[in-house]
Amino acid sequence: MTTEFLGLRLAHPIVNASGTFDAIAARRAFGDALLARFPFAAFVSKTVTLEPRQGNPPPRLWELAGGMINSIGLPNKGLAGYLEHDLPQLAELPVPLIVNVMGFSREQVAELVRAFGERDEVAALELNVSCPNVKTGMVMGADPGETAALLDAVRPLTAKPLIVKLTPNCSSPGDVAAAAAEHGADAVSLVNTLRGMAFHPRRLGVPWLGGGTGGVSGPAVRAVALAQVAEVRARVAIPIVGMGGLQSGRHAQDLMQAGADVVAVGTESFRDPLAGRRVATELCEIRANSGIVRLPGADGREPIAHNA
Ligand code: SIN
Repeated sequence: MTTEFLGLRLAHPIVNASGTFDAIAARRAFGDALLARFPFAAFVSKTVTLEPRQGNPPPRLWELAGGMINSIGLPNKGLAGYLEHDLPQLAELPVPLIVNVMGFSREQVAELVRAFGERDEVAALELNVSCPNVKTGMVMGADPGETAALLDAVRPLTAKPLIVKLTPNCSSPGDVAAAAAEHGADAVSLVNTLRGMAFHPRRLGVPWLGGGTGGVSGPAVRAVALAQVAEVRARVAIPIVGMGGLQSGRHAQDLMQAGADVVAVGTESFRDPLAGRRVATELCEIRANSGIVRLPGADGREPIAHNA
């Protein structure tokens, strides 16, 4: 079930949502077995900012009946730390690397795009203009004019594909997607998390999350994701990476029928680190049974090959 995406030949259409699978920690835990059975057809990194960040104060997570709220706040080593420590390790993964970046100004995003644009290890960049857990990151992604201005600033800086990660927390994701496409984005990804909050279970009126509010993800947002992917597909012709609460091949198929070309597994990977591989296999079975593609193996479970 190979998939062409931004000039990359992916073994299947399942990638990870940024920040939901720590490939470096997983490699430490599982060794090279992880590389042999890597769950995703491309790896999207956790967001990198120009300077190192500690992230938001704890608590950072709240479990919901249908998922969770995170208020992580983009902790990361910063550009220099990432280039020195993380990039060499992520370059060893058996799949293309997509680096997710976020800046607090256009100039910061430009610096990140310029730096990663020069690196052969990086196949594409995802611009995170949609994090609900930091102050200015989302402004660029909530307004079509701001998104257009950001693309105008960074598009000339690299020939690498640029994916714009859209926020669901705006009045019209379709308008923002159209602005991104018109100003040079190669793809859009959606949905990032929906802003939400929870109160402390024992202290009335006190927010639970250290950051006050956070981003809701998991099955609770799946219907929203489907509607927004369909809305964006009606507005743009560029590829869409669809995500939001998917847990199975059927959910992936639904997102693709709504208009996604590639789909990302997010929160489900916290429950099942191999969810990406399972979803790919289930999707393959669904498509084979509906005559969309032929099964790669007798029972469809093996082999889903990965890029070497
Ligand atoms: C976070 O680190 O706060 C989550 C990332 C995001 O929502 O973009």
